[in-house]
Amino acid sequence: LDEVGMTHDLAGRRVLVTAGPTVEPLDPVRYLTNRSSGKTGYALARAAARRGAEVTLVSGPVALSAPEGVRTVHVESARDMLVAAEAAFATADIAVFSAAVADVRPKEVAAQKLKKGTEGVDLSTIELVENPDILATLAVRKRPEQVVVGFAAETNDVIANAQKKLSTKHADLIVGNEVGEGRAFGTDDNEVWFVSAEETYALPLMSKDRLADEILDKALQFFK
Ligand code: CTP
Ligand code: CA
Repeated sequence: LDEVGMTHDLAGRRVLVTAGPTVEPLDPVRYLTNRSSGKTGYALARAAARRGAEVTLVSGPVALSAPEGVRTVHVESARDMLVAAEAAFATADIAVFSAAVADVRPKEVAAQKLKKGTEGVDLSTIELVENPDILATLAVRKRPEQVVVGFAAETNDVIANAQKKLSTKHADLIVGNEVGEGRAFGTDDNEVWFVSAEETYALPLMSKDRLADEILDKALQFFK
């Protein structure tokens, strides 16, 4: 405990957090993205730093200020996020993948603005390609003493989908949450399930700050 009674139970630990959306340009003015405020990821980074960890936050574009005492790496695309996260993952004790990575990107990026009604330009048919899965790509190389936490943002069948993601993405814990219609996105509270190989249970509705501490508490249990 420090002078204000806070625990430093993450002292000496390195924590990686991915947060926010990624944006995938079509041309200099247009992009594709996924919905995300970044609040959960930023709360995780702040909580981990407060608890003594050395934190790297890899963040897509969000309207939040970089937390104090955290190494924040700003990225735009999923591929840039993968590169930045890869570097920090190698030495991370705990990696939490809370980013809402854009699932697809335009296959080609135009150097100049695509003008409607121009010969050869058809904005109604844009070819897309799938982005790399950052969590799955990195977690498959997980060392035994690393703890990996992922999320599952679902509109339906939260538990079943979260359980599937636990195994396909090689995570130790999946935080499942229901999204849509005023739920989770942009709000300050969240109601989630914790899904691990051993157990699945619901947590009560709580603030994203409190949830961040719950996730870190749970991650620490995997070290024991
Ligand atoms: N994730 C990731 N890279 C991606 C897609 C997802 O790292 N390209 C991570 C997210 O950060 C999250 C988890 O994978 O921790 C699940 O993301 P989610 O969007 O719920 O699942 P997807 O695998 O993308 O599948 P779908 O969106 O079709 O449900
Ligand atoms: Ca997705």
